[in-house]
Amino acid sequence: MCGIVGIVGREAVATRLVDALKRLEYRGYDSAGVATIDGGRLDRRRAEGKLVNLERKLAETPLPGTIGIAHTRWATHGAPTEANAHPHFVDGVAVVHNGIIENFSEIKDELTAGGAVFATQTDTEIVAQLLAKLRRDGFGRREAMHKMLKRVTGAYALAVIFEDDPSTIMAARSGPPLAIGYGDGEMFLGSDAIALSPFTNEISYLIDGDWAVIGRDGAHIFDLDGNPVERPRQVSQAASYMIDKGNHRHFMEKEIYEQPEVISRALASYVDFLAGRIRPVAGPIDFAVVPGLAISACGTAYLAGLVGKYWFERYARLPVEIDVASEFRYREIPLNPASAALFISQSGETADTLASLRYCREAGLKIGAVVNVRESTIARESDAVFPILAGPEIGVASTKAFTCQLSVLASLAISAGRARGTISEAEEKELVRHLSEMPRIMSRVLNTIQPTIEQLARELAKCRDVLYLGRGTSYPLAMEGALKLKEISYIHAEGYAAGELKHGPIALIDENMPVIVIAPHDRFFEKTVSNMQEVAARGGRIIFITDTRGAAASKLATMATIVMPDVDELITPMIYSLPIQLLAYHTAVFMGTDVDQPRNLAKSVTVE
Ligand code: F6R
Repeated sequence: MCGIVGIVGREAVATRLVDALKRLEYRGYDSAGVATIDGGRLDRRRAEGKLVNLERKLAETPLPGTIGIAHTRWATHGAPTEANAHPHFVDGVAVVHNGIIENFSEIKDELTAGGAVFATQTDTEIVAQLLAKLRRDGFGRREAMHKMLKRVTGAYALAVIFEDDPSTIMAARSGPPLAIGYGDGEMFLGSDAIALSPFTNEISYLIDGDWAVIGRDGAHIFDLDGNPVERPRQVSQAASYMIDKGNHRHFMEKEIYEQPEVISRALASYVDFLAGRIRPVAGPIDFAVVPGLAISACGTAYLAGLVGKYWFERYARLPVEIDVASEFRYREIPLNPASAALFISQSGETADTLASLRYCREAGLKIGAVVNVRESTIARESDAVFPILAGPEIGVASTKAFTCQLSVLASLAISAGRARGTISEAEEKELVRHLSEMPRIMSRVLNTIQPTIEQLARELAKCRDVLYLGRGTSYPLAMEGALKLKEISYIHAEGYAAGELKHGPIALIDENMPVIVIAPHDRFFEKTVSNMQEVAARGGRIIFITDTRGAAASKLATMATIVMPDVDELITPMIYSLPIQLLAYHTAVFMGTDVDQPRNLAKSVTVE
């Protein structure tokens, strides 16, 4: 989604603004722009496409000035053209915006009737137009900002500069995150702490309804009624993370290979390996007594939640209601206030997940957040935070966050099982043993499967459609495999419960349709093999992902068999994530797509 940065500096800011935008590239965007004030004049450079295009323009015609705002745009209203790229200028006002102004057409009609002429198709331009009108009507900068904020509705993070004030940036937040960074005689603004990490690690986050006036020496923050408010300064961890690709071609590849290490780190904070038990979950959610659990999330995080449902129900006998957040929030689910709710989100900012969280809070449920970004809104609005400790995930396609989410959910489900007396101490020890083996097994898999996967990816790259099948926890994994493949290779892919095959999708099977069957030799194996027979009988090409026992037991001819180590059912979702991630990755590499920033996708989806 869109990224925002701003600097009120002591030296030229344009290059630094673009460097900060680079750190927000991972969020996904399709145009970019920067504006500064120099010599009492606002000026800007904007470009379609990647930041290199903007850099080229800046190299041709540099942009001086020690104050500026910049933006990467992920188009919502209006095509990703240069004209629609931010910053938007109207009569000495420059605006960048992340989010959607919901009442924009009403305000646009009103302003147009008053003579305003719009230069873009964006919702954002009404902010600049409204501010310009308020200034023409005689309001001072702050008053105009406050009045504008009272008028607009929807989701926004905004940064504004006024040509007649080269020492102030104004900012506002309602929805998408915005952080103020404190420097030495300089101040910064950014969509997240990662963007600001080269400049400062001292951050304060605006909360919904806040707006701020930021000068070189500090910031004044106000609530929507105009009352001054204080937001705590915190030291961000973002700077301590290395945000580079190391020896890898893409962030996604790096993040896939990092999984054994980050999972070890995540597990270490949930599992007492010496004692062979999960550390007790202290705090407001008491799994021993809750009658049920609601889980909601989007995309890959939702699929992690779906695996979690199998675990909570199996190990803790805890009924789980789960849905994608965009449906969950509007379904008017009758929720039991004694239940708990878990929200899973890498970014911690996903608009629909946050709205579902607020829905559950209204209903009186205790809220838990399984998040990667600990300073995020979802974390801050939760009663209990379960960090997944994956470190920054830059590739738009989620990989290490998914397996870390799974690791945390597995730990919580076991802990809930112990608290509810549905698993014994000995069973817990055994499950913990399997968790403890996981990073080592993952390393082994990563070191061995690449050649087979690369070979297979060459074949997949020629296909138009791919079907993934699985049962039990391999069913959400089949959906995750399909999601990964479609989002980075643009090949159409679907994930199905293997048992559903004959209820429709079997009609698709022919000699051109690869069917990837995820089937460890578990209690579902025989049934999944029967479904594979149905595929084989119709000439379908099978890619079989199984373990050594499964490979030995199946006599079916396959296009390829990827043989994984024999592991306990608990950890198969994490282990089998590796081949499906690598398969999607190498297929996309063969096809030459933009693996880390696939078209149309955003990393942090802060609009509905
Ligand atoms: C897919 C992917 C997305 C996210 C989804 C939720 O690879 O990354 O489907 O999982 O947009 O994002 P978060 O986890 O930030 O709430």
